[in-house]
Amino acid sequence: MKQRFALLLFVMAMLNMPAFSQQNHTLLVKAAQPTVAIQPTMWGIFFEDINLGADGGIYAELVKNRSFEFFKPMMGWAVNRKKFVEGEMLVINRGNEDTRNPRFLRVTMNNAAKGDLGLTNEGFRGMGIKKGLRYDFSIMYRQPDAHTKLHLELIDTTKQVVGDTVLSLTEAGDSWHKAAVSFHARETVLKGKLNIWFEGNGTVDVDMISLFPGDTWKNRPGGMRADMVQWLAEMKPGFIRFPGGCIVEGFDLTNRYRWKNTVGPIEERQLMINRWNIEFPYRNAPDYFQTFGLGFFEYFQLAEDIGAEALPILNCGMACQFNSAEVVPMQAIDPYVQDALDLIEFANGDVSTKWGKVRANMGHPAPFNLKMMGVGNENWGPQYIERLKVFQAAIKAKYPNFKLICSSGTDPNGDRFDYLNGELRKLNADFIDEHYYRSPQWFLQNARRYDNYPRTGSKVFGGEYASHVDKTVGITRNTWLAALSEAAFMTSLERNADVVQMASYAPLFAHAEGWQWAPDLIWVNNLQSYGTPDYYVQKLFSLNKGSKVVPITLNNDVVAGQDSLYASACIDAATNELIIKLVNASDKPQNNTLLFDGVKKLAAKGKLTVMQAALTDVNSFDSPTNVVPVESTIAVKGKKIELNTTPYSFSVLRVKLE
Ligand code: AHR
Repeated sequence: MKQRFALLLFVMAMLNMPAFSQQNHTLLVKAAQPTVAIQPTMWGIFFEDINLGADGGIYAELVKNRSFEFFKPMMGWAVNRKKFVEGEMLVINRGNEDTRNPRFLRVTMNNAAKGDLGLTNEGFRGMGIKKGLRYDFSIMYRQPDAHTKLHLELIDTTKQVVGDTVLSLTEAGDSWHKAAVSFHARETVLKGKLNIWFEGNGTVDVDMISLFPGDTWKNRPGGMRADMVQWLAEMKPGFIRFPGGCIVEGFDLTNRYRWKNTVGPIEERQLMINRWNIEFPYRNAPDYFQTFGLGFFEYFQLAEDIGAEALPILNCGMACQFNSAEVVPMQAIDPYVQDALDLIEFANGDVSTKWGKVRANMGHPAPFNLKMMGVGNENWGPQYIERLKVFQAAIKAKYPNFKLICSSGTDPNGDRFDYLNGELRKLNADFIDEHYYRSPQWFLQNARRYDNYPRTGSKVFGGEYASHVDKTVGITRNTWLAALSEAAFMTSLERNADVVQMASYAPLFAHAEGWQWAPDLIWVNNLQSYGTPDYYVQKLFSLNKGSKVVPITLNNDVVAGQDSLYASACIDAATNELIIKLVNASDKPQNNTLLFDGVKKLAAKGKLTVMQAALTDVNSFDSPTNVVPVESTIAVKGKKIELNTTPYSFSVLRVKLE
């Protein structure tokens, strides 16, 4: 019903028909009086391995449980055999001999031919297979005699083979070897599987069984899903926060994220449960683990690739306070602080340093030029402040200009927030990380939140936010209402760019069949991905960031909800353009006259980009562009522009100063 109503209003506006009660506004843009600078970091992205974001998502590995380290060592694998022989497939645990990768599989063949004995890997909710694409298979193996042949098959849901090859394992002896082969798929399959048939006689030990598509981002072997990275690159984000989120904290301290376990050869990166595996009983994901194939080196590399500042968040000596609330005693906190110092050395240190050398050995001798780091995710209370002080003292003593992002807990108000906000400002924290997962109404009503914040001292990082509509609206909940309310709120962040210097929507990715948390910015399945309306709002802000705020007023007041209108303005010094962002969050068309004060001349035409839809509209795999920005030109009349906005719309206008 609402949808039809909005459509009717839209049609009427298009036809220039008088609407029910059209509203007229005159907005004054003081173009010659730019105020505060907008930091290049203003709009960024938040990455967490949640919703199969990394394993099963952007990390393009197709084999699930490739090294048999899941709690159930054969999870993801099925054994295929003609005849059962006791012990022919044994999971062996090396224990202390190799604590990082203890398990492997011993296969005993009894004059096996193709079809007699094999394994099937089911992938992460299946494997996405593309017709004509190259697939890169690799395996680590050890065998007393050189005799094993592997018959590899990609199969579809009816077990038809859609790609195959043979790999001979040619090395014999006591040590491990790696073998690899590439082959092409003949069909596209959304939920394929991998068969491995063993041919030979005697035993072969296998481990790190891996399959990657040939079309990874920048064609890096063992790399990332290109379509997923592309969404990020196109946003031109100012920063990328990683690796979370709650996974930084862990449900207890043994499950905290430890960056040192995520660098170096991948077979030495010790797998760990993903806390989202068991976090929500109603969205259980028993097969959700972190292989760390996407580790800190890869995160830094990704940041560099997409031109974003890296923003790692480290554990502060406290586990998730919603779970165990475990804390490290103060007298045992040093290793945690050392992890932070070592991370700076890993990112920036000379190749002669211990950790700089690790980075160089991984293929990046040049420093990553890391400038900031978060200490703690959503931690709170005096225990947090006590621990943070130790980090702050140690890091600032060694790196005085290095910026620290500090937690203000889980909510943007309340006693916990007030306490932390006060304490952090006393500590002169560089950045206070505020999180707001709130209703659309909250976002609309809080468009003046930062107008009265202190202009000096600590800056704000809107580190995680998303507008959460009624839970009953679809599974993704990424409706146009959610995105529109975020756009309205974001105009207020931009207006207060001296206070809020970084902001990121959260979470970033969700697999349609493996998610725990919704809404999310970008949805994927094994082959496709689409941006939500929220994604396009984020992208529009990021691509139209500008360099300085310009005042825009309605009746001498900032535009923050009067008649449901929200606006911000800025100037882009690089292109000499004024950029106006205008949200009409009402159900009425609005006629807005923009008067540009203090300009000599404007170009005859401006570029207008508009998003508008019914409030419940969403994008989907079938309709990925249902709600997207539409570009047009708009006439400039001297120093005036008539910008008529349709109900529930977000407009971005760029006009050149001449
Ligand atoms: O973004 C999802 C979760 O929300 C993050 O992991 C956590 O920081 C917050 O509670």
